[in-house]
Amino acid sequence: MDAVLNYLASHEARFVEELCHYVRFRSVSAQPEHRPDLQACAEWLVKHCLSLGLDARLCPTDGNPIVVAKTPRPKGGPRRRHFLVYGHYDVQPPEPFELWKTPPFQPTLRGRSLFGRGASDNKGQNLAHLKAAEAYLKTGTPLPCDLTFVIEGEEEVGSKSLGAFLQQNRAELRCDTVVISDTGMPSPKHPALTYALRGIAAFEIIVRGPSRDLHSGIFGGSVQNPATALAQLLAKVHDANGRIAIPGFYQDVIPLSAYERKELARLPFNRAAYRKFLGVPELFGERGFTPDEQRAARPTFEINGLTSGYQGEGSKTIVPAWARAKITTRLVPGQQPAKVIKLVRAFLKKHCPPTVTLEIKTGHGAEAYLVSPKSADAQAALRALRSAFGREPVLLREGGSIPIVNQFKKILGADTLLLGLALPDDNAHSPNEKFDLDIFAQGQRMSALLWQELSAPA
Ligand code: BES
Ligand code: ZN
Repeated sequence: MDAVLNYLASHEARFVEELCHYVRFRSVSAQPEHRPDLQACAEWLVKHCLSLGLDARLCPTDGNPIVVAKTPRPKGGPRRRHFLVYGHYDVQPPEPFELWKTPPFQPTLRGRSLFGRGASDNKGQNLAHLKAAEAYLKTGTPLPCDLTFVIEGEEEVGSKSLGAFLQQNRAELRCDTVVISDTGMPSPKHPALTYALRGIAAFEIIVRGPSRDLHSGIFGGSVQNPATALAQLLAKVHDANGRIAIPGFYQDVIPLSAYERKELARLPFNRAAYRKFLGVPELFGERGFTPDEQRAARPTFEINGLTSGYQGEGSKTIVPAWARAKITTRLVPGQQPAKVIKLVRAFLKKHCPPTVTLEIKTGHGAEAYLVSPKSADAQAALRALRSAFGREPVLLREGGSIPIVNQFKKILGADTLLLGLALPDDNAHSPNEKFDLDIFAQGQRMSALLWQELSAPA
């Protein structure tokens, strides 16, 4: 093991350069014009994996390619444990560009942080696992288990192609446990095992009024403004206590247990510092729950984008023809995306005035994930975190979503260990995303140690 850890320590500078190379690809899955960039990024990954001694291939899909890379399988011998390491090479859109201190796809080092879109979510995190495998392979240290890396290019848009891919390759991908570093840790001093994620249901609401934009002086006042109609409709979704007023919305929610609430309350939290960090004059959330509960274990209804009328310089006096909102609701264990969408649809239809028309387009959806942090594999992961970070790890529920984790369970029968390396101030999905290079190094060590811990006889 020393050889592996020494290798990781002595090649740190090159690993950072490789991460820079990885971040330069503009692999934005939400924007069709970037398809060639996603393809190029996947091709680079395959080449990189091959250079490490992995058996790697590019798997085309209807969407973006999936990269599969396997450690060499020793011939004969007893059955070894098999772990699937999942990650994604696609990134969120970088806009607004003007808020980036340095361009999003020009990775830049400032202090011990590497800035660039995707540095933290998820390129740096999945590269940490590849570097640990490299250290085993290049030092000739035998791995105690078999590893298969699956790195996809559609996570940020709902992992549309990966489910079918898992089905088709079920035999090859069947594994004991899935390992993912695509979540967070509360601070550099708090390595974390995440045992729950929220689910998601995405949709778009389009309210249409007149057949074209109208002169607001000539016609305004005699026709419903679709932007007003949409604003009124959306305003009905929450009550004054921050609760969602859609009938039945909370019906299937499995409440947090007293034990979980107690555990959550132990996490470091400073209300004033949190408020300042987010840049808000005051916090807001569902009454009766702490901010950590609100953002990790309660469902939400969020407007992600709201568009109507003229947005350019100066003014333009119109009654817009339409107004549109992009929405995602975050779901918690118990809730089904399809059922929630049905409830939302019925609510919006009921409250939409007859003076405009309403269209609801549904998007991707995924259930929440919840797994026991008490399993033997979870305990092994906690040991690896403890020795790599030299700190006592914490157990977390987190509010983000990784759509494919439930399918790993359903299709491959495997639970997932979520071992996140992202810090709260990494600016995931925001301008000036960064990844902490000390955590990059600790993540590599954690991965190297994890394979030992997971493979040791109980
Ligand atoms: N890395 C995140 C998920 C995440 C972040 C989980 C922080 C827990 C804590 C992932 O890349 C992501 O952003 N997922 C999307 C999924 C969606 C687009 C279907 C999300 O949560 O918005
Ligand atoms: Zn993300």
